[in-house]
Amino acid sequence: MKGFVTASLAVFVSCLVFSSPGTTQDYDRATLGAGKIMYMRCISCHTITKNGRNLVGPNLWGVVGAIAGTRDGFKGYSEALKTSEIVWSRETLEEYIKDPAVFLPGTNMIYKGLPKEKDRAALLAYLETESANENAEHESFRY
Ligand code: HEC
Repeated sequence: MKGFVTASLAVFVSCLVFSSPGTTQDYDRATLGAGKIMYMRCISCHTITKNGRNLVGPNLWGVVGAIAGTRDGFKGYSEALKTSEIVWSRETLEEYIKDPAVFLPGTNMIYKGLPKEKDRAALLAYLETESANENAEHESFRY
């Protein structure tokens, strides 16, 4: 019995270690590298590291899965975004990034959008991974 408990515990602990979210396990480095290059179009207005500053746009750490317009301390939200009740899933993020002004008329995000599906897919892989990354070090050096 004791052996069983120990073995179960070992399995449980290794699950915790190996299934931690935000690691690069779901996407290959090539995709994340391409996503990082796409993300360069966002860095003038956004940080994505945990506790990163708000710039012209809000910090994006934890944004995937969050309710739109709820980043801590960001004062620059449009009424359109604040009252949108959007939840940022892969699908809603993809639509927003494709063409922000079309998806959300009245948005303050002055960005023309990413028309190519392949570019958006890479960017979303990067956003999903980095917005869940607990590591405070800047992500630029990781891929
Ligand atoms: C010129 C500055 C600027 C650029 C470039 C920019 N953004 Fe934004 N972003 C903003 C602003 C301002 C908002 C707030 C929009 C609003 O309230 O309508 C925002 C909002 C967002 C939100 C919603 C955040 C929330 O809290 O609901 C996401 C997600 C986002 N941006 C992702 C991106 C991504 C990804 C890129 C690059 C492809 C990008 N942005 C490029 C300024 C920018």
